[in-house]
Amino acid sequence: MVDAETAANSGMRFSVDKIRNFKVRSDDVFLLTYPKSGTTWMKEILPLVFNGGDIDAIKDIPVDVRVPYLEFTISAEDDKGCRGAQKSFLVPDDFNLDEMESPRIINSHLGEKFLPIELEEKNPRIIYIARNPKDVAVSSYYFAQLMLAREYKGRIADPYRNFSEFFPDYLDCKNRFQVVGYDGSQWHEHVLTWWKRRHDKNVLFLKYEDMFQDLESNIRKIAKFLDIQLADDVVKKISHRCTIGNMKKNKMATKNNYCEKSVNVKAEGDSPFVRKGGAGGWKKYFTVAENEIFDRHYKEWMKDSDLEMTFEL
Ligand code: A3P
Repeated sequence: MVDAETAANSGMRFSVDKIRNFKVRSDDVFLLTYPKSGTTWMKEILPLVFNGGDIDAIKDIPVDVRVPYLEFTISAEDDKGCRGAQKSFLVPDDFNLDEMESPRIINSHLGEKFLPIELEEKNPRIIYIARNPKDVAVSSYYFAQLMLAREYKGRIADPYRNFSEFFPDYLDCKNRFQVVGYDGSQWHEHVLTWWKRRHDKNVLFLKYEDMFQDLESNIRKIAKFLDIQLADDVVKKISHRCTIGNMKKNKMATKNNYCEKSVNVKAEGDSPFVRKGGAGGWKKYFTVAENEIFDRHYKEWMKDSDLEMTFEL
């Protein structure tokens, strides 16, 4: 894990001090994920759980406005860099987290050491989603292509030519322009932090693959955690709205405002952002040798943990 100064100076600049000192409210809900683990999916689900399945109330609001990114919406005054550019893709320029009505749902990909200090004092509810790191790797590769091709082509780095070129950078968390793991944290550092805290009263630890297999029961679990009563038909309605097929058609979730323009690789499916989903897609990308390398790392990363991930369904 890098220190704060390095993170602040990485390609993906963010305002470490401002984020650490962010004023947390006890009724906030924090959605924490390693990038490419189902964040956008949950940004569709959570507001509907909160509002009792009222689709009309959210259908014209982009997911990143409903559930804004902590690190991309808090900006430093002098921030004219990449992170600043990021903000304008996600939320209106004058968007201010401090002015959001409670209960706020706020998202972050940052590792624990960069999160607001007040998380530990105010104890807001935290929902964490973990996805198997092989599918995260492939999803990250596609996302890296999207991002590198867009704004930064020729300026920072060229896009990767193929997954094999991306693979070692993913393992080292040194991917060009730090598109994933941009605070320097590797998948296991991020996921294991919250796995260790999964029994905390204010933490709900979910797995992407479980959600993919049975979304309805996971919606019930989320509602229970949030002390919200949902009738069965509402659970079904939310689940139907949030299938990957429907998410691909959902203009508030596909991020086509910045993704479509920048595609230089053919995504599988029709939306480059809500791309393929599921578990096991990695098998088309990892060579046998890469898989062996990855498994060796994985074994080492997980040697002291009882967390088990699902790599295919
Ligand atoms: P793939 O690239 O493997 O398809 P994030 O929102 O954290 O960036 O995660 C993006 C991943 O979540 C993408 O994975 C995307 O397709 C997947 N995803 C988005 N909506 C989904 C849904 N409704 N069901 C399952 N996966 C979904």
